[in-house]
Amino acid sequence: MRHKGNNIKLSVNNCNVSYNDEGPDGAPIIIFIHGFPLNKSMWDKQVKALKDDYRVIAYDIRGHGNSEVGEIDFSIDLFVQDLLDFMDALKIEKTVLCGLSMGGYIALNAIENYSDRFTALILSDTNCTADSPEAKEKRMNTIISIKEKGVVKLADDLLPNLFAPESFKSNSEEIAAVKEMIVKTAKSSLNKSLHALANRKETCSKLAKIKVPVLILVGEEDKITPPESAIAMQEKIKDSSLQLIPHAGHLSNMENENEFNSQLLKFLGNIS
Ligand code: MLT
Repeated sequence: MRHKGNNIKLSVNNCNVSYNDEGPDGAPIIIFIHGFPLNKSMWDKQVKALKDDYRVIAYDIRGHGNSEVGEIDFSIDLFVQDLLDFMDALKIEKTVLCGLSMGGYIALNAIENYSDRFTALILSDTNCTADSPEAKEKRMNTIISIKEKGVVKLADDLLPNLFAPESFKSNSEEIAAVKEMIVKTAKSSLNKSLHALANRKETCSKLAKIKVPVLILVGEEDKITPPESAIAMQEKIKDSSLQLIPHAGHLSNMENENEFNSQLLKFLGNIS
C-alpha cells in the first residue's frame, strides 16, 4: 500500500531513509534527488508546483536530512543502489528522475547502469566529469576544515558559491534555509559524502548512449557547475535540450523557481 505525505520512513539497502510522496495515485511519477550537503526540502517549491498532476517523490540521500548516516562508507554507486532499492520498495518500475548537482551525478550513473528503469531525465546544475586532482585536494582540505573549524564555517564558505550574488538580496529565506540544511548535516556524513564526490567516476563517455528525453537546466551564474558544463553534456546527449535559468546560481530551482518550474512543466507536458 502507498503511504502519502512527508517524512515517511523506509528501510532501503539496510538504511532508514526519509521521503515525501505526494500527488494522485496513478499519475506519472517523478523522483527528485537533492544536492550536497542539502536535503529533500530543497525541492519543496517543485513539489508544490507539480503535485496536482504528478506523483512527486523527494527523498533524503543517506546521511542527509532525516535519513540515517549508517556505518558504511559512501559512494555514488552506493547512492545509486539506494535509489534502485527505494524504487523497488515503492514498487516503482519506471520513473522520471530529476537530480541537482550531486543528485545529477547519481541520476547519470543510474541511467547509465539501469537504463530500462527511467523514462526521462532532468539534469540540473550538474556535470559529467570526475574531480580533477585539485578538486579532490580541495575536498580533503574541506574535511580537515570541518573537523577543526566546524559546520557553520563550512556553510559560510559554501553559500557564496551556491547562490548568485543577487540572491543574497532577493532570496534571504532560501539562503537561511540552505544554511540550516548544511549545519544540520552530521559531520560524519559530510566527510563520507566528500569522499564519495572526490572518488566519483566520469559519466561523460557514456552520455551518447542515453536514449530517453533529457532536459538540462543551469543557473546562468552557476559557479560550481557552470553553463559550459551543461552545454558540453547537451552536445553529447541525443534527445536533449538546454535552458539557462536567469537570476540564479547553482541552486537554480530555489533561486528562480518560476522559470525552473515553467521549464520543468513544459518538458513533462511534452513527454507525457
Ligand atoms: C552539490 O551541489 O551537490 C555539490 O556542489 C556537488 C559538488 O560539490 O561536486
